[in-house]
Amino acid sequence: MELPGFCSHPLWFVLALLLGMLLWATRRRAWDPRRCPTDLTGKTVIVTGANSGIGKCVAMDLARRNARTILACRSRERGQAAAAEIRAATGNPNVVLRLLDSSSLASVRAFAGEVLREEKRLDVLVNNAGLTGLPFALTPEGLERTFATNYLGPFLLTNLLLDLMKASAPARIVTVSSFRHSAGTADTRFLTGRARPGGFDPVYNSTKLMNILFTAELAQRLQGTGVTANSLNPGVVSTGIMRNFSWAMRGLFFLISPFIKSAEQGAVSTIYCAVSEEVSGISGKYFGSDCSLTLPSAAARDAGLARKLWEESERLTGLSP
Ligand SMILES: NC(=O)c1ccc[n+]([C@@H]2O[C@H](COP(=O)([O-])OP(=O)(O)OC[C@H]3O[C@@H](n4cnc5c(N)ncnc54)[C@H](OP(=O)(O)O)[C@@H]3O)[C@@H](O)[C@H]2O)c1
Ligand SMILES: *[C@@H]1O[C@H](CO)[C@@H](O)[C@H](O)[C@H]1NC(C)=O
Ligand SMILES: *[C@@H]1O[C@H](CO)[C@@H](O)[C@H](O)[C@H]1NC(C)=O
Repeated sequence: MELPGFCSHPLWFVLALLLGMLLWATRRRAWDPRRCPTDLTGKTVIVTGANSGIGKCVAMDLARRNARTILACRSRERGQAAAAEIRAATGNPNVVLRLLDSSSLASVRAFAGEVLREEKRLDVLVNNAGLTGLPFALTPEGLERTFATNYLGPFLLTNLLLDLMKASAPARIVTVSSFRHSAGTADTRFLTGRARPGGFDPVYNSTKLMNILFTAELAQRLQGTGVTANSLNPGVVSTGIMRNFSWAMRGLFFLISPFIKSAEQGAVSTIYCAVSEEVSGISGKYFGSDCSLTLPSAAARDAGLARKLWEESERLTGLSP
């Protein structure tokens, strides 16, 4: 059979090219915070670890949307510098620092107490503070420090603020996890250093798995309250996160840094979960670095594991079940 003559017409080639360009252009256009109209006037948000990297960019975006923006940082100096920078860049005077060391349950309780006494509402909580590259060690409270910083502190913080968030509903809890959760294991003995995960930088991987399990169980418990909980992967982002690794690892990270996301780009999936219209009402999910709904690892979807981790975390933090 012979092809009809018009198929070989140059117009088809041009049309195919245009269609290809259109597909490419839409594929490349990820969700863009600057195109999201959400305004947060009259709302209050907390971003932990807001003095650098992803957290600072997230706080900057939320402040630009006119939220009362609380930076929860462990260093007064670094926190004040970030608050001044965000106030100057956004013109929002309502950017405040409150001290929080997420590795210390005492500090988490003091911070939460202050928030509950002094804030009228809480609409968005971003659990972003995190670190990696430190040797396995216990805090004065007997908790393994990376697990305490990245997981158990945020677990307690979120629970202590839940009633305020329920009273402010609709409200969102956003927890920054990582693609590296897939190499993690969620043995609750890790939390107190009674066991340590094996492998290369396995502690970090496991804390990020716990962030997802926590989010899943939390979402279950929050059903019907108007408070949602989601976690996300920011991607591979050029920030200070590598500061406590060996010089060799830092050198490697420095070499790839021009090819990975900037902190602004790395903040996008977190901002998406915190303010986008698309995520309103969605809970218990994990979002990829391109803001798409993503299936986390099998362990991260294990409801039994999530419940066990939750119960042990309640016990360790002294929260009554
Ligand atoms: N960068 C990446 O490629 C990547 C990939 C996946 C996930 N993430 C996640 O993204 C989040 C933000 O990391 P980042 O890349 O933006 O790194 P970053 O620039 O090092 O920022 C981490 C923030 O957490 C704070 N923090 C650390 N320990 C704390 C504690 N005990 N109490 C309170 N705040 C504490 C840090 O404060 P100080 O200045 O006081 O240290 C800093 O503000 C982390 O949860 C990380 O796991 C990052
Ligand atoms: C943890 O993450 C690192 C870096 O992505 C990876 O090389 C390692 O194999 C992971 N898992 C374990 C168990 O160490
Ligand atoms: C991690 O690195 C930072 C910056 O180099 C340093 O100030 C800090 O003391 C280190 N933390 C630990 C526990 O070694």
